[in-house]
Amino acid sequence: MLVAQITDFHVGRIIETDNGPIDLFDRLKETVEHLINLNPQPDLVIVSGDISNHGNMEDYERAKNLLDTMSLPYYVMPGNHDSRESLRTLFQSDGYLPTEGEFLQYTIEQHPLRLIMLDSLEAGEHHGMICGERLRWLNDRLSEDSERPTLVFMHHPPAKLHLPYQDSMRCFNGEKLVKIIARHSQILGVACGHTHRDSVANWAKTILFVTPSATFSYGLEMHPVEDINPRFEPACIRLFHWTNDTGLVSHLSFVGTYPNGLTEGVPTPATN
Ligand SMILES: [Fe+2]
Ligand SMILES: [Fe+2]
Repeated sequence: MLVAQITDFHVGRIIETDNGPIDLFDRLKETVEHLINLNPQPDLVIVSGDISNHGNMEDYERAKNLLDTMSLPYYVMPGNHDSRESLRTLFQSDGYLPTEGEFLQYTIEQHPLRLIMLDSLEAGEHHGMICGERLRWLNDRLSEDSERPTLVFMHHPPAKLHLPYQDSMRCFNGEKLVKIIARHSQILGVACGHTHRDSVANWAKTILFVTPSATFSYGLEMHPVEDINPRFEPACIRLFHWTNDTGLVSHLSFVGTYPNGLTEGVPTPATN
């Protein structure tokens, strides 16, 4: 089973650079094209939040129309820049979002790897939070199937990553999550976005994956900073490859071609 994670599009944001403005929607088009050309194709795509920068409907519609050009099932969840109401309005008809309750959290059951989508949005704040109701929901979902290998997705990393700026807007009550996650040994990993950087951590007796943005990065600031500036590093997606034999293996796949990259020795696809 192959799962792709794409995150933090921020559609609607235009970033000024020395070489002119960059519309993040154009960057997202390249990332979606990259996904469409992946071989093998993922079984499904997880979109882990911050779809729109301002939460407005026009930007969600642009993002949805683009995502719909993939012939792949995809599943959305909210980030701190998103509005649950807008996501509901636009994506409810796709059939997987919960129809009741405040939170946009659900499980994806029809594959050998079970996926749990946990809503970490604290409305009006950039940091995240998992309230008592969401902690109970997570514990119930994990308790109802303790055998099947499971990946948990949430927008905000629940641990400090030694990135002080991003750490100040992590999911604040990660210690409560640790108690639940560490008790359930079927969890192969927890995957987040939000920091716009790649990090991997040993956390809650599992692996915490933090996936870079599909459109732009922030600098690697491992010391305290007042503010943080966008950078244009290669956009990327994360892949989770799972088989019964190998367990979970994860890769980053970078979008675009680079003039100084090696071109010799690129493998040619087999013709038979
Ligand atoms: Fe973001
Ligand atoms: Fe975010």
